[in-house]
This record gives sequence, structure tokens and C-alpha cells, in this order.
Amino acid sequence: MKLVVAISGASGAPYAKRFLDFLAEHGPKHGVSADLVFTSTGKQVWRQEVGREPAYPFKVWKNQDFTAPFASGSSLYDGMVIIPCSAGALARIAYGISVDLVGRAGDVMLKERKKLVLVVRETPISLVHARAMTQVIEAGAFVMPASPSFYSGPRTIDQLVDTVVARVLDRIGLPNDLMKRWEGMSPRGGPEPVEEP
Ligand SMILES: Cc1cc2nc3c(=O)[nH]c(=O)nc-3n(C[C@H](O)[C@H](O)[C@H](O)COP(=O)(O)O)c2cc1C
Repeated sequence: MKLVVAISGASGAPYAKRFLDFLAEHGPKHGVSADLVFTSTGKQVWRQEVGREPAYPFKVWKNQDFTAPFASGSSLYDGMVIIPCSAGALARIAYGISVDLVGRAGDVMLKERKKLVLVVRETPISLVHARAMTQVIEAGAFVMPASPSFYSGPRTIDQLVDTVVARVLDRIGLPNDLMKRWEGMSPRGGPEPVEEP
């Protein structure tokens, strides 16, 4: 599987970090390779929320470099994940505004009917955002809001982040056990109590 991973300037760089950490460790054994592209604000938000820029074993493309293979449908990439996805990146893809590599790659995924997953992070959602989401969903994309869940009993920020990342990995078909799967209510009706120090 050839995947494009884009990191745009929404809050939520820790989601991107966990996703990339997982891909770097587990991608190769599942035959998954990734190309990486940051928007300029995506880099800034990463620095604010995660810290130093990552050293991942992925090819990194500049967001204005339209010579990247995945800027063309003929390169036969299998899918793209934008994590986190800003309202701006969502809107550019919804309306085919390919002024940057992220927008162009999203455009290509839609026209080639490939998997496109947008981990959108914005609140509140305006009518503009809602219409853009409708538009991309109608065009075949998955909108997976960066909304963590609590039913698996996450105790740490990493575990909470993983409740989002696990579902994104599920969507692109990568086996993972990042979160405890729902198997119905526990007999106690809640997570195990935390030991107080
Ligand atoms: C620290 C920080 C947090 C931001 N959080 C969000 C956010 O959660 N969602 C969003 O849509 N935009 C957010 N923005 C604004 C976007 O970065 C801005 O709209 C930018 O133009 C998006 O550019 P991009 O789509 O090229 O990454 C944030 C900006 C900064 C600096």
C-alpha cells in the first residue's frame, strides 16, 4: 500500500505523531510505505504541540513541490490521510483548489476514487465547514473528526490520542490494537478504578 500522509495546521499534531510512529514501526511488515508532506502551518503547530520536527524514515515533500509522484493519478497511490486536517485544507479539497501539494493530492485521491481520510479538527463547526464535509463525503472521502472516545477507559493522553489514531488505522486497513475494542458493557459498568498514589 502506497500512502500519502499530510499534516496540516489544525491543532492535533500528537495524533499525527502517534500515527507516524505506528506507520514507521508497523508499516513495513504490512507492506505499507508512506510519503509525508507538511503544510507550513502544520509544521508550526507540530513545533508548538509536539516539539522538534520528526526524523521519520519517510520521503518528505515540500508543500509546493508538485513534482511529487502522488500529485498525479498515474502514480497509483492507494490512499491519503490528512491528520490533523485544518478547515482550510478541508475546504481546498472540497472545492478542488489545488494550490498546494496537499490540496492537489487530495484532489487526485478523489478523482481516482482512492481512499481519502480527513481527520478534521475544528470547533465549533460552521455551515461552511459542514457543507465542505458533505461535499468531500459525497465525493468519496471519509471525514473522521479528531474526537477522542472514552469507552475503552483511556487513562493517559497517549491512550486518548490512540482512540482516534486506531480508528484511522482501521479505516486504511492496518491491523492494530492501539485501543481496547468495545465488547459490550463490563460487568462493573465502567473502567477499572485508578490506583491513587
Ligand atoms: C496553534 C494553532 C492552532 C490552530 N488550530 C486550528 C484548528 O484546530 N483547526 C483549524 O482549522 N485551524 C487551526 N489553526 C489555523 C490554521 O493553521 C490556519 O487556518 C492555516 O491557514 C491552515 O493552513 P493549512 O491548511 O495550509 O495547514 C491553528 C493555527 C495555529 C497557529
